Amino acid sequence: TRTAAVIPAAGRGVRLGPGAPKALRALNGTPMLIHAVRAMAASRAVSLVIVVAPPDGTPEVKTLLDAHALPERTDFLVVPGGESRQESVKQGLDALPPGYDIVLVHDAARPLVPVDTVDAVIEAVRDGAPAVVPALPLADTVKEVEPADAPGTPEPVVATPERARLRAVQTPQGFHRETLVRAHETVTGEVTDDASMVERLGLGVVVVPGHEEAFKVTRPLDLVLAEAVLARRRL
Ligand code: C5P
Repeated sequence: TRTAAVIPAAGRGVRLGPGAPKALRALNGTPMLIHAVRAMAASRAVSLVIVVAPPDGTPEVKTLLDAHALPERTDFLVVPGGESRQESVKQGLDALPPGYDIVLVHDAARPLVPVDTVDAVIEAVRDGAPAVVPALPLADTVKEVEPADAPGTPEPVVATPERARLRAVQTPQGFHRETLVRAHETVTGEVTDDASMVERLGLGVVVVPGHEEAFKVTRPLDLVLAEAVLARRRL
């Protein structure tokens, strides 16, 4: 079996504030995307990484990948992304050569996921799960609300799901290739992760333990945290 990783990196990163596309912003001097690619290539099982670049940034991303040392056993492809994360993942899947039967989908915005988490996801797919997501229990209690139209308006609470049964999901999410391709062909409508498309096909999705360091860099404070994690690793 061969495993490939698709990295959607075509988002603008609006919540992070003004500047370059999120994946190209530096963490301790190295673009977030390069950290994310290295995190996938760190797994001995991953022999191909497909980066889905901002549509107008494909040459720049190619240059970037050429400029950074990556393991020799790993091949790379760069393809342009789409309007939504979902479309970007689809573009990556369309570029996947034959022979790869396990596919990981990993957000460029989770640059620090440890290799043990990547390997645990691959292992669970190899063990037969059609879709696998790394996830962590929640620290916060979560409430479902009736969203207000105007920002700042108090929102009525609809329900409080039992916290012990909730998980915050991360990436890489792992799939049997056929399953993910079929999900992208049949499921329409907005989704925020790939596994939920497989759930809609009625197939079993399982959760394995995620890792604190697989957090998503979304807001400015996350950049501070990511740089602190990197500094600690270098000690
Ligand atoms: O916006 P969000 O944080 O959910 O984005 C998750 C990942 O999806 C990021 O790595 C982002 O670059 C990617 N993305 C993409 N194409 C889009 C939107 C987001 O590849 N059109």
